[in-house]
Amino acid sequence: MSLFISGGTPLCGEIAVHGAKNSVLPVLAATILHPGISVIENCPDLSDVHSAISILRHLGCRVQREGTRVTVDATELCCCNIPDSLMREMRSSVIFLGAILARAGCAEMYFPGGCELGNRPIDLHLSALRELGAVIEEEGGRICCNAPSLVAREINLCFPSVGATENIMLAASRAAGVTRIRNAAREPEIEDLARFLRSMGISVHGAGGSVIEVECSQKTKDPMFSVMPDRIVAATYLIGVAMTGGEALVTKLVPEQIAPITSLLRESGCNVTVEKDRIFLKATKTLRPCQTVRTMPYPGFPTDAQAPMMAYATQCDGTSIFVENIFDNRYRHVCELIRLGANIKVEGRVAVVEGKNELHGARVSATDLRGGAALVLAALCAEGESRIDEVCHIDRGYESIESNFSKLGAKIVRREG
Ligand code: UD1
Repeated sequence: MSLFISGGTPLCGEIAVHGAKNSVLPVLAATILHPGISVIENCPDLSDVHSAISILRHLGCRVQREGTRVTVDATELCCCNIPDSLMREMRSSVIFLGAILARAGCAEMYFPGGCELGNRPIDLHLSALRELGAVIEEEGGRICCNAPSLVAREINLCFPSVGATENIMLAASRAAGVTRIRNAAREPEIEDLARFLRSMGISVHGAGGSVIEVECSQKTKDPMFSVMPDRIVAATYLIGVAMTGGEALVTKLVPEQIAPITSLLRESGCNVTVEKDRIFLKATKTLRPCQTVRTMPYPGFPTDAQAPMMAYATQCDGTSIFVENIFDNRYRHVCELIRLGANIKVEGRVAVVEGKNELHGARVSATDLRGGAALVLAALCAEGESRIDEVCHIDRGYESIESNFSKLGAKIVRREG
């Protein structure tokens, strides 16, 4: 399937943001901790969510979906391994490791494999689980974990890894005592996971800050939970409205979570009005370039918004500079943006965009999830028709991107090439 986009229409109207992929995935993994029923509301319909549900079903959970509500019955698990084929479907499946280990005392899975963002090691996950008492053997891409009993520890992360923080929180829920994570990731999705664990009866303090404490809990209760809005999807909509010269209201978001993006859009000249859970954006005719955009752990500029913001920079009058500090191979979308007419040069971690570029329709390929979103944004500004292949990457994190952008007036359809 490919997306066909005729650019040049300003995005206008109103759009609501769906639930966050990066929140619901660890929450789905965490349902395993509770031998009962978890109800999750505002669950987005994404291919990564389908993959997580396949893993839960493989493990013996009964999972039902009705609209945006997902119910997981994890009363009985029938196994504690995840086959290679399921691991490959979703690279973040490694967050199941801590949960399975906590519930079953053993876990077996495969390394998440090569990744479109470069080498994505899991050394921090494994060393933390070892500190909690797990015996882990790595052999030929397979990871075997055994921990009949986990013991709480103080864990100091040398980098505030999101996935490692989540894995430790999950395993710590069954590690005797109170586990303290220092230099924990502070992303809002970590706070959402903490909220879910608390609704299950597990005591978690400090999430959202850099020291998190998780207390061991053998008894859990049926949680009811609603997933937070997706801050990167919200950012993508706002960037799209700004760069096409439109005006729109984006609802169901948490404004402070996307402050680094809205402040850039404001500095660029856009009129941004923030209310409690919504943002109204009116673009300006001439967009000023972004000052240097440096990706950082939260609350810094999110690496996941780097590619969409780079598409935006092609429409600004002047030079914008990007420095990617989180992943070592996150500029694969640049070649595709250049095909659409962008003027971008990359050297190591730095990318320089010389705007404004007159973009033109072309056939391009989504290289990864956020890079794919950047191509959609660029194509919405390009003159003529563009075709974007490999939409499967975009479907991992954007619920039907074509119908959502169509609601704002975009000319975008999905069909066989
Ligand atoms: C999560 C998000 C992803 C986002 C990223 C950074 C999910 C499902 N995905 O990914 O969208 O881009 O946070 O905000 O939530 N690292 C190691 N060793 C480890 C773990 C990580 O060296 O054991 C490195 C990674 O290679 C990377 C950096 O740390 O360079 C950040 O990774 P991490 O914060 O763990 O990101 P993810 O949890 O994979």
